[in-house]
Amino acid sequence: MRTLCDGQRIHMVDQKKERHYALTLKAGETFQHSGETIPHDELIGKPDGTVVTLSRGTTMLAINPTFADYVVKMPRGAQILYPKDLATITMWADIYPGADVFESGCGSGAMTMTLLRAVGEKGHVISHEIREDFLKTARKNIERYLGPVTNLSLVHNDVYAGIDEAEVDRVVLDLPEPWRVVPHAAKILRSGGIFLSFVPTVPPVVTT
Ligand SMILES: C[S@@+](CC[C@H](N)C(=O)[O-])C[C@H]1O[C@@H](n2cnc3c(N)ncnc32)[C@H](O)[C@@H]1O
Repeated sequence: MRTLCDGQRIHMVDQKKERHYALTLKAGETFQHSGETIPHDELIGKPDGTVVTLSRGTTMLAINPTFADYVVKMPRGAQILYPKDLATITMWADIYPGADVFESGCGSGAMTMTLLRAVGEKGHVISHEIREDFLKTARKNIERYLGPVTNLSLVHNDVYAGIDEAEVDRVVLDLPEPWRVVPHAAKILRSGGIFLSFVPTVPPVVTT
């Protein structure tokens, strides 16, 4: 049985409005919602999916969030890719268990986590990001949900200047100017590998 643990990120779900409120459980602290409260101690140790009653009688669902729910509520440095795009990218880039994947930029880590889940323990994800503060946020976001990961390399680098990595099976980009990475990506992508760039507007599609 999965339980709600001290130190864990959980979601409280308002059952009427179906809104999610993210919090990190800490013994001794109190969750507050619209003037009502519940001590974290009353949540810690309860089964995942427990319905709890707040101080003035409102009931809420306490859950371990699904990956999609977690991603949209996690702290952000950069704008994240949303679950519908994460799913599509995983399919179109054909991310498979055991694959070595190069990604940039890492941003808040939403795509990175999706790649890690898809490649599994035998795969490897390398993610380059120009902003060191974003890398810190991303690692926190990733490890809070997945736990410590040993098959992830987070690298502080300007990918427009170059990529110093060994051969990979897949290249996945979510960058403002992805066309500047095409020559570098060509050098690290194996024969038969896949290059996928997420571009939300038409001009970068044309340039890339
Ligand atoms: C839209 S965000 C990526 C969001 C990420 N896919 C996610 O789901 O959380 C784009 C990221 O590219 C990074 N970036 C921009 N230019 C870069 C460069 N030249 N080299 C590496 N990263 C860069 C930005 O700092 C930003 O974090």
